[in-house]
Amino acid sequence: MEKKRLFSGLTSTGRLTLGNYIGSLSKLLKLQEDKNNEVIIFIANLHALTIPITKAELLRNVKENLKLYIAIGIDPKKTKIYLQSQIEKVNELFYILSTMTTIGQLERMTQYKDKATKQANSTFKIPTGILFYPILMAADIILFNPDYVIVGNDQKQHLEFTRDLILKLNNNYDTDIKLVEAKIADLKEGAKIMALKNPKQKMSKSDQNKDNTIYLLDDLLEVKRKILGALTDSENKIYYDLEKKAGVSNLLVIYSTIKNISLKKAEQEFKNLTDYRKFKEIVADQVCNLLAKIQKNYHNLNDDKLIEILNYNLKYLKKEANKNLDKIKDKIGLIL
Ligand code: AMP
Ligand code: TRP
Repeated sequence: MEKKRLFSGLTSTGRLTLGNYIGSLSKLLKLQEDKNNEVIIFIANLHALTIPITKAELLRNVKENLKLYIAIGIDPKKTKIYLQSQIEKVNELFYILSTMTTIGQLERMTQYKDKATKQANSTFKIPTGILFYPILMAADIILFNPDYVIVGNDQKQHLEFTRDLILKLNNNYDTDIKLVEAKIADLKEGAKIMALKNPKQKMSKSDQNKDNTIYLLDDLLEVKRKILGALTDSENKIYYDLEKKAGVSNLLVIYSTIKNISLKKAEQEFKNLTDYRKFKEIVADQVCNLLAKIQKNYHNLNDDKLIEILNYNLKYLKKEANKNLDKIKDKIGLIL
């Protein structure tokens, strides 16, 4: 059976949280184990240029993120990983796709409108790169002709835009690009990790209150302190009920997903426990065990190793990209 190609881009900004790990990264770990999948992921450093960033920041973000992906268990032998700027052909496809897109289409994108309104209130002028963002994203995808793209809910509109471009290419130029489908990393109840001090809202990397968020590289004593300080209730019974016991439920979700057991099983483990402090300590131990492993791997990775990882599949990926681009160029009439 032919393998299904799964594709995903990861923006290289911000530090990763326990929410990112449980909601999205750990899913990639499962997908790479399935022999029916070919998983390709890349770090979107060209996309990162759409907001002002220094060379040092850009390099630091990319390295930190790449190291974290490897540290959590993404294995270059199973998942092909590259840096967006390594595959230059994306820029050529980007140009071709821009000739098939109207300014109106781009201006209607929710993410563009959000960013544009935010920036209208500052002295920073909107670069056209922000407007063109969806075209580059479409080029990232079409260059590899995948079956599925893994994205968060907020990227759905960009994916629809990509699918429209694929249909246009196939209709206008008679190409046979696969109409890629979204695998939305859906934050269903029970899979969404909530803010520790405010368990009705999502744990987010940009939360002002640092006690709400566990970062994968947080000091372990800090992690323990944050979990012991999580908001709970006064019932002193441990079971899952998102409405009445949002805080306890959140800790149960964290515990059960890291331990890879069902919520029911986790509830049973704590059936006779009435001491929330003890409960939090057990959850904190579980989280700290996971983070200790990740952090150990992280600190063992040096720059040489990163370069080796980025080169591991590069030849194959470039070949795939060239092949797909040449097919499109040929159909358009750009190759004599
Ligand atoms: P973001 O950090 O918002 O860019 O999200 C990147 C991905 O991480 C999303 O597609 C989500 O699937 C996942 N994610 C982010 N925050 C959480 C959270 N609190 N709980 C579960 N998944 C999350
Ligand atoms: N825009 C995506 C995000 O912000 C990242 C991304 C860029 C991407 N290009 C992509 C994701 C191609 C999937 C496919 O999360």
